[in-house]
Amino acid sequence: MNSLNGKRHPRTLVIERALIGRDWIELPIRVAVTDPATGAVIGEIPDCGTAETRAAIDAADKAATDWRARAAPERAALLRAWHVRVLKHSEALARLLTAEQGKPLAEALDEIRYAASFIAWFAGEAERIGGYDVPALSPDRRVLVARQPVGVIAAITPWNFPAAMVTRKLAPALAAGCTIVLKPSELTPFTALALARLALESGIPPGVINVVTGTPAPIGEVLMASDCVRKLSFTGSTSVGRQLMRDAAGTIKRLSLELGGNAPFIVFDDAHLEAAVAGAIASKFRNAGQTCVCANRLLVQSGIHDRFVTMLGEAVSALNVGDGFDPAVTTGPLIHAEAAAKVRAHADDALAKGAQLVAQAPLASRIDSYAAPMLLIGATSHMRVAHEETFGPLAAVFRFDDEADAVALANSGAAGLAAYFYTSDIARAWRVGDALEYGMVGINSGSVSLAAAPFGGVKQSGLGREGGREGIDEYLEIKALHWAGLR
Ligand code: SIN
Repeated sequence: MNSLNGKRHPRTLVIERALIGRDWIELPIRVAVTDPATGAVIGEIPDCGTAETRAAIDAADKAATDWRARAAPERAALLRAWHVRVLKHSEALARLLTAEQGKPLAEALDEIRYAASFIAWFAGEAERIGGYDVPALSPDRRVLVARQPVGVIAAITPWNFPAAMVTRKLAPALAAGCTIVLKPSELTPFTALALARLALESGIPPGVINVVTGTPAPIGEVLMASDCVRKLSFTGSTSVGRQLMRDAAGTIKRLSLELGGNAPFIVFDDAHLEAAVAGAIASKFRNAGQTCVCANRLLVQSGIHDRFVTMLGEAVSALNVGDGFDPAVTTGPLIHAEAAAKVRAHADDALAKGAQLVAQAPLASRIDSYAAPMLLIGATSHMRVAHEETFGPLAAVFRFDDEADAVALANSGAAGLAAYFYTSDIARAWRVGDALEYGMVGINSGSVSLAAAPFGGVKQSGLGREGGREGIDEYLEIKALHWAGLR
């Protein structure tokens, strides 16, 4: 990657400041952000604390009166202007995203387009917010049910999708008439800051979006204790989500939680083999396995097992691991060395308990944030990979005989985010689709990500839905207006 000669990402888009109201602020205490592919420092962000977080909440509160009063078509027009600007700068944003997150540039560009699609979708939804009336008790009465913005929103976003998780929260909040304090991951803050700047340049007024950067705990404490912040939308681990839920109790905040998954990917004997292998690669190895909806357990029926494993093994061996700026690379580094160590620990645990390694992609880099994509067979429910998200490029195959056993195994455990299965039997497709206890199910598809469809989980995978028709409801309160004396 020497050919890049230091042009890995556009310096002009690296904003080393937090955004409070109309001010881009600097602080003497800063946090370094590194490129996981090289370990090089990309830049530094202010380490915001109590004072900056309170100031950001105040700015969001002050901006709320004007923003909620704007007509819905005006808010929609501003969102559309933001959408156009994001797409116009998509190449530069993608480079920034690859630099701080590590995913291959083509995947980063896909993510920017995916991120933009939430802005376009919710611009449309802004114009469809409406109430209804219900029958009253007498002719002089009317009962109207109105929908109003929740108020000031806190959004805490993860490092695995530094653009899409930001717009999936901000776009519906803005469309609904809410104002926001965003806390992006301190590992990948620059994409979020660049998106916020593009929003301001698109005409979204100062104060409507505020971005506080730095160490999570002090910022989170202020956000969660604030009475002014009426809702939290969080994407991240189940353990942090559980803690935030406890913290929300003090002020009875509304919550949207998109938490961990442990997705089963079931391949039945009657599956289309090539499609199942392509779906497994897409689901398991997207973003080097660092998605909440990644296949974590490949459940494969005995009759197709060996052919599936052979084909999948060839595809895994052909994955090209390296720096995401190299166009030939399919699998970038993981976010940091600990993430890569967890993948190796899951593999070691499975191998020690009887699994077999059947394929592995070559790993040239010695930087410790890289992990080799691997395919294991002979996985069992005693292994860590059966119960914990690996969040990395390790595919573990569990063999099964009966449909009922596969469904029971798939439904075991506390997670309920995404599940996938492959079959050509239509009756089975209905049956298994009904039986899986998950918020999203891919049927002969390795993808469940689309702005127009509700995204979210059941059980301990979270609360609420993002995207789809439901996404905007998370940012709206219901008010019943009871009128009398109308005759
Ligand atoms: C996630 O991993 O949390 C999001 C994945 C997606 O939206 O596709």
